[in-house]
Amino acid sequence: MGEVTYQDLTFVPYIKREEIAKQVNRLAQEIQRDYYQKNVLFLCVLNGAFIFAADLFRACDLHDAEIEFIRYKSYQGTQSTGKVKKITGLYTDIKDRNVLIIEDIIDSGRTAVQLRADLEKLNPKSVKFASLLFKPESLTEGTAPEYVGFNIPPDFILGYGLDIDELARNLPDIYVKKD
Ligand code: IMP
Ligand code: MG
Repeated sequence: MGEVTYQDLTFVPYIKREEIAKQVNRLAQEIQRDYYQKNVLFLCVLNGAFIFAADLFRACDLHDAEIEFIRYKSYQGTQSTGKVKKITGLYTDIKDRNVLIIEDIIDSGRTAVQLRADLEKLNPKSVKFASLLFKPESLTEGTAPEYVGFNIPPDFILGYGLDIDELARNLPDIYVKKD
């Protein structure tokens, strides 16, 4: 497992697949305990979270767990408010349901804040976040996710679902940009 190069940038090994698997299993234990018999709906935010969601969902021994997928897309606002984000692909009624949003990474927290607000409008019973990665020093909006795999410094990473312009999602390990 050596260095990898994308767009003339060099990335070095950062979190190995074994370490990822260990934290995924630890999170699954916590989620299993907290959502026992609560009919939790995992809501995987595409594209970045799909690999983490697949591993986490399989690691949770919950007989009544369900999974759905959404995209959260940026649109250019019609007014000077700039970019607004909109959920697409949510075909399941989440009213009165316990929703667990599965994210790859929470950086500034902006996406998470908007996503939570948008979902709250649909009157779920509860909304929580499980994020594989969290950059606490970058957080400018909202709060820390309820379930976190790794707290990391504010460096750019890729692999295991995380991309650089849609590339590198298929790397089984996580890499960090070399400075
Ligand atoms: P936030 O709204 O600033 O929390 O941004 C979250 C989104 O930014 C994530 O869903 C990722 O798509 C992207 N992102 C943030 N940090 C990284 C990183 O280190 N590598 C790849 N994508 C990242
Ligand atoms: Mg991305």
